[in-house]
Amino acid sequence: MKKFFLLISSIIILFQGCTSREKKDDSTMSEKRMVAYLDRGKDLANKAQKALGGQLIEAISKGGVPYAVQFCNIKAIPITDSLSNEVNANIHRVSDRPRNPENQANEHENKYISQAKALLSSGEKVLPSIQRQNDIMVGYYPIITNPLCLQCHGKPNETIANETWDALQKHYPKDKAFGYGPDEIRGIFVVEMPVSAK
Ligand code: HEC
Repeated sequence: MKKFFLLISSIIILFQGCTSREKKDDSTMSEKRMVAYLDRGKDLANKAQKALGGQLIEAISKGGVPYAVQFCNIKAIPITDSLSNEVNANIHRVSDRPRNPENQANEHENKYISQAKALLSSGEKVLPSIQRQNDIMVGYYPIITNPLCLQCHGKPNETIANETWDALQKHYPKDKAFGYGPDEIRGIFVVEMPVSAK
């Protein structure tokens, strides 16, 4: 009789072991799904980059670089916000050295940025990242400078013209986003996507 109880209880323990393992698997996401979110986020970051870049070039050709500073001041955040509404995700730009204090990276984002800088300076490729935070998938996508950016993010008196510098100082008295060279990490796109049921 004792043996019978032992057998039954070990079956129950085994069974519980199985179910709890199944539950655990359910809460951790498959790699395939993670990659799908990483790709979707990348697609959205590219869309945002295109929208911002297109309007930036249009503003520069319409009114020159100082005018484009004023344009970015009013329009940059609304452009990413309206795209966010359209695609049911939250897309924004952050930096460890922001121009607009609203774009200050948080601790987690700063960690990714400093790792990305270290990789880039040792000549390695910077890869985007994806992680789950409760019911949200959060993707980080690096933003790298090119010569165009240096007209507003480069060095005063060198790549930033005086008139542009004055406009920057006027709109952003706490500006930290100058002094960059080409091919440097200027910041990241943060794309937050709700986890779908499947
Ligand atoms: C005409 C000037 C101008 C040019 C050219 C320009 N930017 Fe900016 N950038 C700005 C302004 C102004 C802001 C602040 C926008 C705001 O108030 O949200 C900004 C903000 C940013 C931000 C958000 C973080 C922060 O510092 O507030 C990133 C990232 C960024 N720029 C990257 C770039 C990159 C990459 C390029 C080149 C492809 C570029 N910018 C070209 C003026 C410029």
